[in-house]
Amino acid sequence: MKKQILSLIAVALCALNAADTVVKLPEPNKKGGMPLMEALANRKSSRAFNSKAAIQPDVLGDLLWATWGFNRPGLRTAPTAINLQELDVYVLKEDGCWLYDAEKHALVRTVAKDLRPATLGKLRQNFVLDAPVTLAIVADKAKATSLGNKDFSEIDSGYLSQNIYLYCASAGLATVVRASFPPTLAKEMGLKDTQQVTLVQCVGWPDKED
Ligand SMILES: Cc1cc2nc3c(=O)[nH]c(=O)nc-3n(C[C@H](O)[C@H](O)[C@H](O)COP(=O)(O)O)c2cc1C
Repeated sequence: MKKQILSLIAVALCALNAADTVVKLPEPNKKGGMPLMEALANRKSSRAFNSKAAIQPDVLGDLLWATWGFNRPGLRTAPTAINLQELDVYVLKEDGCWLYDAEKHALVRTVAKDLRPATLGKLRQNFVLDAPVTLAIVADKAKATSLGNKDFSEIDSGYLSQNIYLYCASAGLATVVRASFPPTLAKEMGLKDTQQVTLVQCVGWPDKED
């Protein structure tokens, strides 16, 4: 019990430290990239990341826009059932956990702690720690079922994941989607009770060995 209270206090303190940190991302470059058929030909899961190569803000901004940005007024680069847009994308990196605010094309820090280790599940896939970025796709289950429909949030998450794969193929980045993360991740991220992590996806520059 004491341990639980202490960990709750730690999460609350991290959230307090993180408050008010907003970083505007560079405008996404919506032109160019690899032809679609080439990107599909190159799409793959990679687990060998160069831990020393950071992802620059312009690349991160393009990646996030490709994943879940607005490409028309009120509508996104990925479809959702009944256009519920019940998903959020968080960026887990060394300097904390950040919510992608697609409207402002900005990052809002929610936890001032590196949560990449908190995504390690039973498989202990240690390559996760080499990837400078882990994207976490988070579903709001209350929104997902708000119209009394079947919950499509896991299906909807797959479209975001494929957008990540295709952007990475185009940009020469390495990526792998992962369903093996512990249930404790949501708490570490300070998510609401109605929110659930559906997928996490490592992104980084490829290791020479790959
Ligand atoms: C829903 C889903 C969950 C996955 N979970 C993991 C995972 O936890 N760890 C991992 O290393 N790869 C994971 N993968 C990646 C698959 O292993 C990979 O897509 C598959 O081996 C085919 O390889 P390819 O993506 O290069 O075509 C997952 C893929 C999907 C679609």
